[in-house]
Amino acid sequence: MNIHNVAVIGAGVMGAGIAAHIANAGIPVLLLDIVPEGASDRSQIANTALAKLLKADPAPFMHKKNARLVTPGNIEDDLPQLADCDWIIEAIVERLAIKQDLYRKLAAVRKADAIISSNTSSIPLHELVAGLPEDFAAHFMITHFFNPPRYMRLLEIVTSEQTDQDAVEKISQFCDFKLGKGVVPCKDTPGFIANRIGIFWIQTAIQEAIDMGLTVEEADAVVGRPMGIPKTGVFGLSDLVGIDLMPHLMRSMNRSLPTDDPLREKATIPPLIQNMIDTGYTGRKGKGGFYRLNRDGGQKSKESIDLQTGEYSPSQPAKLDSVKAARDGGLQALIAHPDKGGQYAWRVLSQTLRYAAALVPEIADDICAVNTAMKLGYNWKFGPFELIDQLGADDFAQRLATDGQDVPPLLTMAREHGFYRHNENETLYLQPDGSYLPLQRPPGVLLLADLKRHAEPLLENDAASLWDIGDGVACLEFHSKMNSLDPLILEMIEETVELIPQNHKALVIYNEGSNFSAGANLGLLMFAAKLGGWDEVDKMVSGGQQAYKTLKYAPFPVIGAPFGMALGGGCEILLHCDALQAHAETYVGLVETGVGLIPGWGGCKEMLHRWSTNPRMPRGPLPPVLKCFEIISVATVAKSAFEAKDYLFLRHTDGITMNRDRLLADAKARALSMVEGYQPPEPPVFHLPGTTARVAMEMAVNDFRAQGKATPYDAVVAQALASVLSGGDTDMTDTLSEDDLLALEYAQFTQLVRKPETLARVGHMLETGKPLRN
Ligand code: NAI
Repeated sequence: MNIHNVAVIGAGVMGAGIAAHIANAGIPVLLLDIVPEGASDRSQIANTALAKLLKADPAPFMHKKNARLVTPGNIEDDLPQLADCDWIIEAIVERLAIKQDLYRKLAAVRKADAIISSNTSSIPLHELVAGLPEDFAAHFMITHFFNPPRYMRLLEIVTSEQTDQDAVEKISQFCDFKLGKGVVPCKDTPGFIANRIGIFWIQTAIQEAIDMGLTVEEADAVVGRPMGIPKTGVFGLSDLVGIDLMPHLMRSMNRSLPTDDPLREKATIPPLIQNMIDTGYTGRKGKGGFYRLNRDGGQKSKESIDLQTGEYSPSQPAKLDSVKAARDGGLQALIAHPDKGGQYAWRVLSQTLRYAAALVPEIADDICAVNTAMKLGYNWKFGPFELIDQLGADDFAQRLATDGQDVPPLLTMAREHGFYRHNENETLYLQPDGSYLPLQRPPGVLLLADLKRHAEPLLENDAASLWDIGDGVACLEFHSKMNSLDPLILEMIEETVELIPQNHKALVIYNEGSNFSAGANLGLLMFAAKLGGWDEVDKMVSGGQQAYKTLKYAPFPVIGAPFGMALGGGCEILLHCDALQAHAETYVGLVETGVGLIPGWGGCKEMLHRWSTNPRMPRGPLPPVLKCFEIISVATVAKSAFEAKDYLFLRHTDGITMNRDRLLADAKARALSMVEGYQPPEPPVFHLPGTTARVAMEMAVNDFRAQGKATPYDAVVAQALASVLSGGDTDMTDTLSEDDLLALEYAQFTQLVRKPETLARVGHMLETGKPLRN
């Protein structure tokens, strides 16, 4: 893609985060800031920023070693180095004169085809390039990242007629493939797409909650989950991003908003909020926000602000029938409900969706860009036009009209068929001229959601389905709650392995849930344990071992395509695949010890095999065993696919895809590349050290116990793990088969699961989502 060297100027919140993410793509990046007055270290700001990046949580780097790709500097001494850069990103203070002053310096040093972009949130492109050389303007655009740049997938790109098309293509491709961004082309309008609608939504939701006398909990309960929006809703979100950010953005956008824009009416900051900002209650970064944690008396308690009085009191969960109604009846039931939650939902949704509908084509050429921007920039599950379709475009327009609100022309056009139409083979979307165009994904983007709209599964049960994804490849999809692995999924694996050879040649394991898999279904385990159904529990252990072995030795390549969390049993299934194609944001680990268990579906065995055959392991029988113990005993979770390679959850040869939308296509391509001459793996044999290793591991645990780092029950679980990893009653002269190790896992797992301490841990995890330290 011809981008080999990047510079980021401005090492503040955004610039530093962007630089880290460029490094995540494996590209060297220069990070420059001003020289602070009187500083002995002339690059102090960028140096400090780099040090902060390494400590930040969540981590801006996907792997700590990526920090080496970032070179801090300052714009006085290091300007000449910019002559080597293919892309220079400006992320300095939001002041036009200062930005333009910098551009003039950049124009003098940049190489002929270097691309310059600004991360501005609110200054129009035409103002940024006014008065600058034509050639500079041709290579200039806005690339608007969202905070934090590693995690937020939206990248808005604003260009003008002047902008060189090759430059736009180059940056779009780079950001898509290498940075994993959902690139949305925007017009040069205030706040672009996401903030224009996002700020309107937030201001409306806050103002209406105040006017209607809702509590912050009630407002967030309505504006969160029922609308497919993260449960932080608006008040929680404002606390997270900083309560001062929106008014600040609002003010700068106001300069360029059309005079009759409805967002202008939302510009007044309610006195309560102005007072919060003035007194330092700016959210999580300040003294507190709409919510705060009160630590008085050593106890942490959550409090929330009274929107009328500004007083804090203990947070009370919302109790609204409308929210309950939405669980079964969806958005329609929510807005139809007569309680204050239903009325509030209608007021917020009607204004926000109507505003969005009135903005196309002013802010974007099509509705898809708007939907994508809201989904990737504000984490909405559905874009505004998908939400209107859920309500029914005609019903929505009707109710607007009944309320005396204007119906925007685009919405009028959607009344008959909606914004999206699904035919037998394709999905069409409404154009601003009233026609419908087929929805087409760019090459290399394959989504199961698209495919499922027009196809029937090859196999299906309540927890999993098998889909034909073309070219002889099938895709096994989990769709149980949290994609937890249960007997139905295990059954589906066995059926899949039988079916594939008939018409297919490879399998990809992939889904489009929030996470790849949260692990084995602990709820089921708990249920069986409470009834004393130990046979059922034991069957689940042996069933899992059997299913994963079937998968491993299937006569065709099996590719795992994880993303998000892949924990416990979800990690074990990946360990049994021939290869992985993982999304960069994959959090994988064998976390069983956290609930008082050990991996029982072949996880210990596979890890032992990987570490014992790893050429980088020191010689001798102990190191691989101790390494596995170190990883599994503390429930290590890798925080990215890159980190997962350090623990061998991923092999060094496994692929990593930066863009989530490209994961399935990449996994499919990898599967196809393995078809010719495919041979299932040779079953491994193990020579394990037995007692010597077990004693070494037990001593390590005793040390932890003595230091207070492990509880007495941790030691019991660690002993069970040590017993498996050491090979049990064996020594180096014995040869152990895969089944011998599975038998050890089975024996230890089924003993642990019967212990009340383990059941207490499982129960606590199910209730709170957190480990219990008993
Ligand atoms: P910030 O205040 O954290 O950082 C700005 C940095 O620019 C400071 O380190 C400052 O020393 C440096 N700087 C100022 N003048 C400079 C110059 N002439 N040369 C080099 N460095 C200079 O600001 P933040 O939040 O990182 O914003 C940067 C840009 O990104 C702004 O244009 C802002 O609108 C935009 N933006 C901010 C977002 C956010 O959430 N904070 C989100 C998206 C865009």
